[in-house]
Amino acid sequence: MPIKQELLDQLHEKTSEAQLGGGEEKIAKRHAKGLLTARERLLALYTPNTFQEFGLHAQHDSRHFGMERKRLPGDGVVTGVGFVDGRPVVGISQDFTVAGGSLGRVHAQKMCDVMDHAARGGMPLVAFNDSGGARIQEGVNSLSGYGQVFYHNVQLSGLVPQIAVIAGNCAGGASYSPALMDFIIMTRENANMFICGPEVIRAVTGQQCSMEEIGSPQAHMNISGNIHFIAEDDVDAVRIVSELLSYLPSNNMMDPPHDLESELTLSHDPVLNDLLPEDPKHAFDVRKVIRQLSDRQRYLEIQKDFAPNIVIALGRISGVVVGYIANQPMVKAGALDIDAADKAARFIRFCNCFNIPIVTLVDVPGFLPGVQQEQGGIIRHGAKMLFAYGAATVPKVTIIMRKAYGGAYLAMCSRDMGADLVLAWPTAEIAVMGAESAVNILYRKELAEAEDKAGQRARFADEYREKFASPYLSAGQMFVHDVIEPGKTRSTVSLTLRSLLSKREARPPKKHGNIPL
Ligand code: HXC
Repeated sequence: MPIKQELLDQLHEKTSEAQLGGGEEKIAKRHAKGLLTARERLLALYTPNTFQEFGLHAQHDSRHFGMERKRLPGDGVVTGVGFVDGRPVVGISQDFTVAGGSLGRVHAQKMCDVMDHAARGGMPLVAFNDSGGARIQEGVNSLSGYGQVFYHNVQLSGLVPQIAVIAGNCAGGASYSPALMDFIIMTRENANMFICGPEVIRAVTGQQCSMEEIGSPQAHMNISGNIHFIAEDDVDAVRIVSELLSYLPSNNMMDPPHDLESELTLSHDPVLNDLLPEDPKHAFDVRKVIRQLSDRQRYLEIQKDFAPNIVIALGRISGVVVGYIANQPMVKAGALDIDAADKAARFIRFCNCFNIPIVTLVDVPGFLPGVQQEQGGIIRHGAKMLFAYGAATVPKVTIIMRKAYGGAYLAMCSRDMGADLVLAWPTAEIAVMGAESAVNILYRKELAEAEDKAGQRARFADEYREKFASPYLSAGQMFVHDVIEPGKTRSTVSLTLRSLLSKREARPPKKHGNIPL
């Protein structure tokens, strides 16, 4: 017997009504501001007709004070699963047109339900945040809801990739859900994120500040380091999410989407031979090396404007997805400081969680000297890099391009820190310290007596480089597996990555190590 038409009409009516969220007027207001609605954001992410929504008809508990006559379609959040490039991805998108996207009990339950779904199915999670925060009328139920969301974020961490988009307001404790995820993208014009806003800061501390200074995408990218990408708008944010996903496995049990059909590069690349400046003291842009090593010269740089003295990026070498960690000689001479160590350590751990081999490019004069660095805990922060590299069991390839001095040589994944392969270019200098400092210590007496001090200093520096810092010394002791011309780097790394694809490294079972935090 065919289903009754009136039941179908009722279904269509209820569905369209719920899909309208806060209504046409509120939607028009968003469009006028150049914003997409919550549902449009998800639809922009997914392949057409693949989005399966969960909880469209969910409703808040109307017994709460002040909510008796409120209709909150979907309880202010759109959740479900859809396909991106043929793979299922779980999505959450807060609907600002419904009670300001505020989070109540049912809203949180919808989020947690799809997060459980992501865990069970081994699917990445993408969450668009756009919310007035805890729903005031629901009191402690809202706080409990946040607690459950945070708990689920933690359970998903290391299991499936989690990507947050801050596409509107993200105030107070609400910002801890994105902070618990792997990557945060913020849209340039409409988004803000903070724990205490300017008014609270002024009332409690007397300090004057603007939202621009504490909660804007620029503040989080350049100063706090809380976010990873700034998107121009909602559509650009979706583009970044898709690009990011294209490098990531769906879960920790899978390999990342290597393109092993692509040709194994064995040819010499003369461009790599020309990238270093003649004078070892001159800076160069390490991103040129990353670009030249990457397939089709394409890579995705992460946290571009935070701690730019280290560059982190995702790319492919002969089809194998890799995470790059590279000193950037153009900023602070590539020295490691607190922010650089934090940035690199977290990325190393991300790569290790999701089976992404790590390629480390070294040109590091050392840890950055300074009172601020010492008092700020450079020991604790620098230790994070040592810990992260030492604990990572993914394939690790290190290329020493120029300087590799002191503790920073170790912190950039030397052989002793577990690198599977260490290559050095003939320009490499591997030593306890740089030539200038070493000459002052080793040749102090001779320098004091020398007539042409500058000339003598330069001659001593050359002697030091040859005697104590030559890459052949390290290669002679097997700290470096081979000294190669730069033009052979891509082919050598390609072969290594392919041969290490099924690397397995067993460690004794334990709950987890105790990374310095
Ligand atoms: C209930 C809320 C709400 C909230 C906004 N709305 N925030 N309803 N609880 N937290 C509702 C408004 O009443 C309004 O309803 C609609 O959403 C749109 O809000 P507007 O104020 O008109 O929009 P706008 O001018 O764009 O301002 C947006 C806003 C502002 C900046 C987010 O609404 C605001 O400051 N809201 C309160 C933010 C806040 O303090 N939240 C609690 C943070 S503490 P109508 O019916 O008129 O459309 C927190 C603790 C979390 O979140 C702890 C976790 C550990």
